Amino acid sequence: MNDPDAGSVGATMAQVTVIDHPLVQHKLTLMRDKERSTANFRLLLREISLLLAYEVTRDLPTELVDIETPVAPMRAPKIAGKKLVFASVLRAGNGLVDGMLDLVPSARVAHVGLYRDHDTLEPVQYFFKAPAGLEDRLVIVVDPMLATGNSMVEAVELMRRKGARDIRALCLLAAPEGVKRFVEACPGVPLFTAAIDERLNELGYIVPGLGDAGDRLYGTK
Ligand code: URA
Repeated sequence: MNDPDAGSVGATMAQVTVIDHPLVQHKLTLMRDKERSTANFRLLLREISLLLAYEVTRDLPTELVDIETPVAPMRAPKIAGKKLVFASVLRAGNGLVDGMLDLVPSARVAHVGLYRDHDTLEPVQYFFKAPAGLEDRLVIVVDPMLATGNSMVEAVELMRRKGARDIRALCLLAAPEGVKRFVEACPGVPLFTAAIDERLNELGYIVPGLGDAGDRLYGTK
């Protein structure tokens, strides 16, 4: 379901961007394959994170600065304004954030430790650490799998409680249920995803999805 107007989330999709770049879609297809090795899955996640970060930062403001090339002086654009914070929802968020840091090495990193209670599917916090001055930064909350949406909503709320005002959310794959929950709970927070799949199953997995992102990234089970 890559049609952004499809299904029950249609009325609330204005804040949602599906990143349908062919390279993103190609790499995502490779990652979904259950025969993909851990090493290859990890490499693909790192590669795809560069492409996702490119899209999520596409509208950052720039300012002209004076520089001199070896040939002539010029005024050239540089990113202006707020410093970036990547907020990784542990542990699978790290797989995306590592690659994003290749693209934006000066970004600060927050870590949000949440696990899903297997019975209630509600997020339980076990760790939180964020850089100071969140009110003056653009915070991009990163979690590869937006399943129920509960973890992403909780992570956004935590960042808000710590002072963040300018927040975006980035995932790799979403379920329609998670998108609906997110846009209802976090109106005005832009959400970026490479795909919106069919549904959640009774265990809270995205279908067809790619399985447990953390397990596939770290070779655990
Ligand atoms: N988390 C995952 O890693 N995979 C899913 O399908 C849902 C949540």
